[in-house]
Amino acid sequence: MPVRRPFIAGNWKMHKTVHEALALVQDLKRLLARMRHCDLMIAPPYTALYPVAQRLADTNIALGAQELFPVDAGAYTGAVSAPMLREVGCTHVLVGHSERRQHFGEALASSGQRVQAALRAGLLPMLCVGETLAERDAGRTWTVVEEQLAAGLAGLDTPQLAKVSLAYEPVWAIGTGRVATPQQAQEVHAAIRTWLRHRCAEHAESMRVLYGGSVKADNAASLLQQPEIDGALVGGASLDAEAFAAIAQAAAG
Ligand code: PGA
Repeated sequence: MPVRRPFIAGNWKMHKTVHEALALVQDLKRLLARMRHCDLMIAPPYTALYPVAQRLADTNIALGAQELFPVDAGAYTGAVSAPMLREVGCTHVLVGHSERRQHFGEALASSGQRVQAALRAGLLPMLCVGETLAERDAGRTWTVVEEQLAAGLAGLDTPQLAKVSLAYEPVWAIGTGRVATPQQAQEVHAAIRTWLRHRCAEHAESMRVLYGGSVKADNAASLLQQPEIDGALVGGASLDAEAFAAIAQAAAG
């Protein structure tokens, strides 16, 4: 069974001007430079991507965007395409974050198109899935997560699937301080792994499934110790260089 290299990603959301972003990157570079046990990625807001990319060249920190629009160019006011992200230096992109659905009306059905647009441009997509509290309380966690996986990975062939990573982010744990227990997270991660084995046996063991939702320096280790949790997608704590570095260090086991 292949060992999955831990992946620690920071989703900065709508935080940091260019000036602030560059200051945070400077601290991250210093604190993360010697970390070789995991893959590292940060996803600043669109406006900071290009200048941050310049500072990340030749470092061990990859650059991601927080979303994309699935058409390469056209009359889509306010949208940013995969080729544009690639050109400014992104290698990764988040797709289907719950805040995109919640605040921007992004349709679940289009997540597959966005994953495919990312892959066409040579970006590595990280598909986010996760249930709301009402869905969990109604016993629908797996139904919802499975629907999101099926929509996001629809139509991908085996080599394409190998380029995708997943993030399980229970919506009730995002930005709330209410982290899923390691057992709650592990349970869904294990179900995702089983689903992947049916969907694509060749890559089911190597595809990384990160946990996201109120990951902090003090709870990261217990989550990352779970056998099916391959990393963390960190929101709030990724804005603090020391906290993000501590989370990355926790992935060393
Ligand atoms: P949080 O956000 O760590 O602030 O809960 C996680 C995410 O939304 O990716």
